[in-house]
Amino acid sequence: MQLFSSKERVGKSIGFVPTMGYLHQGHISLVQQSKKENDITIVSIFVNPTQFSPNEDLSKYPRDYDRDHQLLLDAGCDVLFYPDSEEIYPKDFQTFITVDEITQKLEGEFRPTHFRGVTTIVNILFNIVQPHKAYFGQKDAQQCAVISKMVDDLNMNLSIVVCPIVREDDGLAMSSRNVYLSPSERNDALVLSKALKEADSLIKKGERDSFRIKSEMISILKSVDTSEIDYAEIVDFKSFEKVSVLEEGKHYLLLIACRIGKTRLIDNQIISI
Ligand code: PAJ
Repeated sequence: MQLFSSKERVGKSIGFVPTMGYLHQGHISLVQQSKKENDITIVSIFVNPTQFSPNEDLSKYPRDYDRDHQLLLDAGCDVLFYPDSEEIYPKDFQTFITVDEITQKLEGEFRPTHFRGVTTIVNILFNIVQPHKAYFGQKDAQQCAVISKMVDDLNMNLSIVVCPIVREDDGLAMSSRNVYLSPSERNDALVLSKALKEADSLIKKGERDSFRIKSEMISILKSVDTSEIDYAEIVDFKSFEKVSVLEEGKHYLLLIACRIGKTRLIDNQIISI
């Protein structure tokens, strides 16, 4: 990795991948996409305190700088931005960005201050890095919708690129938090991707009643003793409003948040009717 002066940036396209580190192939797929589309790819690693509530896993969030650094070198990342918390949030910090409506639903109901922290840090990072394009994973579907809304509403001068979910061979969506799972919980965690798959196949067979589709997801999630469901929902792809009947020509999201033991996992799937 190397340093680029502001002169060296001139005329070059900058792709940016914000992360909280403990990287896996999901993160690396974003780096690869950015490398395909830009001259310079910048990755940030910053475990952002403002998106964790006091009862969440900020202090325990997995970290491994050396491994991340090597993975990014191997992936051909050009610049790694690895700021300290005090650099980003000095003592007198007092400005936050809030997106109103989509942030109240689903993840927002269970993590009320989460998206305010995400939009604020993403803004700060965008202002520092000044990318032309920024890359986010569909894994965090609501995060993508919230950030896209913010960029749109504030006329921010960059494009958001959303990349597909990267999964383990057995279907589990890759996540830095998977490391918390014991071997038996790791196996139980497969109920999330199974529930999405079964719901998808019901829809493909013609089911349009969202209550019946949700019931199927819930019964699969409940088939393991370690699961505790936060939500299993079908929402409109853009507004995140819940729907009762699926309509032809529309796009939806199946969304799941479920604890397996103490680990909270999320997963989702796009549905086009
Ligand atoms: P983090 O959880 O580290 O994720 C960084 C990026 O990687 C996000 O855009 C996320 O959606 C994407 N990602 C994670 N798992 C993925 C998978 N299995 N497949 C594809 N993409 C995946 O999301 C955050 O960090 C933070 O909220 C952040 C945006 C950095 C702000 O602090």
